[in-house]
Amino acid sequence: MQVIMDNCQKIPVHVAIIMDGNGRWAKLRGKERFEGHIAGVDSIRECLKAANRNGVKYLTLYAFSTENWGRPAEEVDALMELFCRSVIAETPDLVKEGIRVRLIGRRDRFSEKVRQHLTTIEESTTAGDKLTMVLAFDYSSRDEITMATRTLAQKAAAGEIDVRDINEEMISRSLYTAEIPDPDFIIRTSGECRLSNFLLWQASYAEMYFPEVMWPDFKQNEFDEAIKVYQQRDRRYGKL
Ligand code: IPE
Ligand code: IPE
Ligand code: MG
Repeated sequence: MQVIMDNCQKIPVHVAIIMDGNGRWAKLRGKERFEGHIAGVDSIRECLKAANRNGVKYLTLYAFSTENWGRPAEEVDALMELFCRSVIAETPDLVKEGIRVRLIGRRDRFSEKVRQHLTTIEESTTAGDKLTMVLAFDYSSRDEITMATRTLAQKAAAGEIDVRDINEEMISRSLYTAEIPDPDFIIRTSGECRLSNFLLWQASYAEMYFPEVMWPDFKQNEFDEAIKVYQQRDRRYGKL
């Protein structure tokens, strides 16, 4: 009984995933990179189910980094198109499952069509209260911190805040993730062990896990396995 109680207490409130390895997954199967991205959408569905079932409250997914604009136009266009198609196909289920979608990242570089889909998915899921899916789309953590710095500097220059009052909480509240708790657990698939400009401020005390499996093969079982890994961790926060 004691073990079960302990495990219940160790469900991460916020899991963030760097969904990596779509291209390699496709290449290993003699397919085009883009087919890996399509296959990856199913893993998103699976992880939403597993997150909901485990009682996770926030699931952040790194879907497109600012640096990903540097990929060939063909791949970028295909990713944008896949995003739009997925919004149309998945929104009814997201609403039914009580999933709220929030976007973090820049909005100004997308086409009008993509921007409309971003608004649609956020507005149609506002009532979702079981799980919040945070999509990092045109997201760069350094860019986010730079923007926050600029905002606070402008407020100080305008006399709205005193420079001496700037503290960690104020900085956190100036980020895209303002009302979202810091991630407890960051998973990156495909065996790469780096953050690639993802949640650098928010990750200060996150536990990290780098399974070898490529993103299209990361399903409910793999998510449950990851939760077990998290439950073995001892989070000390610098204390004893
Ligand atoms: C992650 O898979 C998806 C995005 C970055 C959009 P990759 O496309 O990076 O796949 P690999 O790392 O090349 O295998
Ligand atoms: C990170 O993956 C971005 C996303 C998963 C969206 P990348 O594949 O773009 O990162 P690097 O280039 O290997 O660091
Ligand atoms: Mg990659």
